[in-house]
Amino acid sequence: MDLITLIKKEVREQEGYRADIVPSRAKMDANESPFSLPSALKKELFDKMQNISLNRYPEPGAPLIRKRFAGYYGVADDMIMIGNGSDELIQILCTALVNSSSVVMVPVPTFVMYKIIASSSGHRVAEVPLSTSFDLDLPAMLSRIAEDAPVLTFLSYPNSPTSNCFSEKSIATIIEASRGIVVVDEAYGSFAGKTLLPLLKKYENLVILKTLSKVGLAAIRMGFLIGPPTLVRELDKVRLPYNINTLSQVAAGFYLDHIDTFLGQTGDIIASREELLRALEKIRGVHPYHSDANFIFFSCDFDTDHIYSLLAQEGILIKNLNSPGVLKNCMRVTVGNREENQEFLKTIKKILLK
Ligand SMILES: Cc1ncc(COP(=O)(O)O)c(C=O)c1O
Repeated sequence: MDLITLIKKEVREQEGYRADIVPSRAKMDANESPFSLPSALKKELFDKMQNISLNRYPEPGAPLIRKRFAGYYGVADDMIMIGNGSDELIQILCTALVNSSSVVMVPVPTFVMYKIIASSSGHRVAEVPLSTSFDLDLPAMLSRIAEDAPVLTFLSYPNSPTSNCFSEKSIATIIEASRGIVVVDEAYGSFAGKTLLPLLKKYENLVILKTLSKVGLAAIRMGFLIGPPTLVRELDKVRLPYNINTLSQVAAGFYLDHIDTFLGQTGDIIASREELLRALEKIRGVHPYHSDANFIFFSCDFDTDHIYSLLAQEGILIKNLNSPGVLKNCMRVTVGNREENQEFLKTIKKILLK
């Protein structure tokens, strides 16, 4: 019996998401925060965790956290739903929406999980290349909307890996033209200092995603979907009952209790990002782009497969995006702490001077 034939064609044909586990001294490849909690806060959090009844299931739907984050984002409690990272919310969206040959539209390049999840859930994926300045190609997207009527469109704001925020006007035009749901994924929104949350009042087909993964708590897997209550109610039926474990619920509450500390770290990352960008601009053959996120996207005049390996050999892990087309010899480096940024700069300069 060939078990593999039981696997959906869409699953068999894809590579899947690969998160390499490579030992490193500077981990600058996954857009996490470089800062761990100050030790006094860590102790406070672990003390709180001692009161958890590990023999009991978590509270389904994490109602307390849902309420607190609704307040934080300035929306009604029934507009928010919590996922095991925003990845799970992307999966819930793709699972719940009609899929008999329906289309999910994504600009490319963008966060690869949209395509992986959409195609494994049976959707056809329409990929629309970004313009040469990495903004949305509005005429191309509008014509796909007219032809394919996508049930879902994913827009990362800021976009990964290109690090920019798409034009707000183009996003609004896409929402207005769509009969499906437009998801604005603000995973990196804190580093851009802007949000499209106010547009929720205007558009009933808009959904916004947020996550704590980029602002210091990647380990707890905490993502938020914010949208109209009628839609959230339906999507919530697909959520597994105990998707958010109790330890993560406690840690998410702790995030809001100590929001100033976390926002301070975000401020530090933004300041370091600008320093790192200026330093990269000075390296011959390296062309960094403006960043609204916690990482810098850059192209190189050299083979980045080679640069990636040499950096990894020196314990510096960044993301090699090299592939035919617009990402040819492109890389993405997460803003690290000041020491990591210096080590990365020193090492890449040494490699390029060889
Ligand atoms: C644009 C974007 N959205 C969502 C995610 C996933 O976030 P989470 O860790 O909350 O699943 C990522 C992670 O890299 C991302 O880059």
